[in-house]
Amino acid sequence: MLATNKIQVTLFDLVTSLSDVTDLVNPALDDHHKKVAYIAYSLAHEMGLAKKDCCELLMAGMLHDIGALSLQEKMNALNFEAVAPHRHAEAGGFLLKTFLPLAGISEMITFHHVPWGCGKGQVHDGREVPMASHILHLADRVAVLLKKPKNVFGNSPELIRKIESRRGDTFMPEAVDAFLALSKKSYFWLDLTSRSLSALLRRKVRVKTVDLDLEGIGSLAQVFSRVIDFRSPFTATHSSGVATIAEAMAEAIGYSESECGMMKIAGYLHDLGKLAVPAEILEKAAPLTKQETNIVRSHPFYTYRALEHIEDFDTIIRWGAFHHETPSGGGYPFNISKDELPLGSRVVAVADVFTAITENRPYRKGMDADQAKSVLKGMASSNQLDPKITALLIHNYGEMNTKREKVQADLTGVYTDMHSHLNSFYSGTRPN
Ligand SMILES: [Fe+2]
Ligand SMILES: [Fe+2]
Ligand SMILES: [Fe+2]
Repeated sequence: MLATNKIQVTLFDLVTSLSDVTDLVNPALDDHHKKVAYIAYSLAHEMGLAKKDCCELLMAGMLHDIGALSLQEKMNALNFEAVAPHRHAEAGGFLLKTFLPLAGISEMITFHHVPWGCGKGQVHDGREVPMASHILHLADRVAVLLKKPKNVFGNSPELIRKIESRRGDTFMPEAVDAFLALSKKSYFWLDLTSRSLSALLRRKVRVKTVDLDLEGIGSLAQVFSRVIDFRSPFTATHSSGVATIAEAMAEAIGYSESECGMMKIAGYLHDLGKLAVPAEILEKAAPLTKQETNIVRSHPFYTYRALEHIEDFDTIIRWGAFHHETPSGGGYPFNISKDELPLGSRVVAVADVFTAITENRPYRKGMDADQAKSVLKGMASSNQLDPKITALLIHNYGEMNTKREKVQADLTGVYTDMHSHLNSFYSGTRPN
């Protein structure tokens, strides 16, 4: 058991990991989130906004497209004349609004594709649009136009002309003026194409980002789990089920309160790397090709890589990212040996399999108790799951299953709410 249970993480570091892994899904995204963050921050700074507001815009840039759940939607958002963009903006705002430190950012994101419309864009669908959304909008469109970062000085004159020609109709005039001033500074373009954009962004928010304790990390990890799971109705409540069971198992084993909290976070984040896998592959009805299987099997690797730069996160990462490792030593993608596989990773692995086989999915019902116990016992006897942890789960089966059902039923309500919220605005009968 761990001696130190107090961990503290900066909001910026966690947000970076989510935005990094989201941009991995396609090379064409090319650090899109970080570029928008840098441009939005620079525009706000040039406009003379307070440091706190500049930092909020930076964070909004890091997260602005997280509501683009499918690869197609992500790619659509990269066209300068974006097709039906408000749906992903609205979804992003919906996903973030439950986490208090990001509530302001959630508002900005909701409206990040609203055109200025000679001032009409200050209201959208009867709701007031924050000025920051218009700054974010311009930052996003500049990043999209920055197609060939290698030849940034060659391309920038045309880009600048295009933005200037939309001053007032598409973009807020003050933001365009700030952009024109910025565009004269070579370092602006060089920063944008720099390989160390993350470090640069971290320096900008150093003193302005919130530190999160275990409870705060848990709440943000829950938001992340929804970004991961809501991409598909097949998995809409999966990570929450795993988090609940992993935490309950940790309690049953006798882990400390903090460790139980860490276990819950590991459950929420275990499939973070799935954001690097196109939803189209995750949902494919036909058998996967060899190449697609390899892509899917890489997801725990990306969970690990996305989180490894976060100080104090080592234990949570190992518990979460090793969930497809096995006590037999034949798991993936790290092939951890029997003796090196932490107990916490074995707990998340059992919670993952139990949740996956018992949860209902649109194309099949979850297994009943007898079926599930027999599958779990089979996997334990072949050392694909830890036998002791599996026995503990089976011993507490009724209680565990009730907890899982409750949390997944509650979350199904949130998932349905999100879709009815989106459909109420964008059912196809209203202009996008
Ligand atoms: Fe967008
Ligand atoms: Fe974008
Ligand atoms: Fe997984």
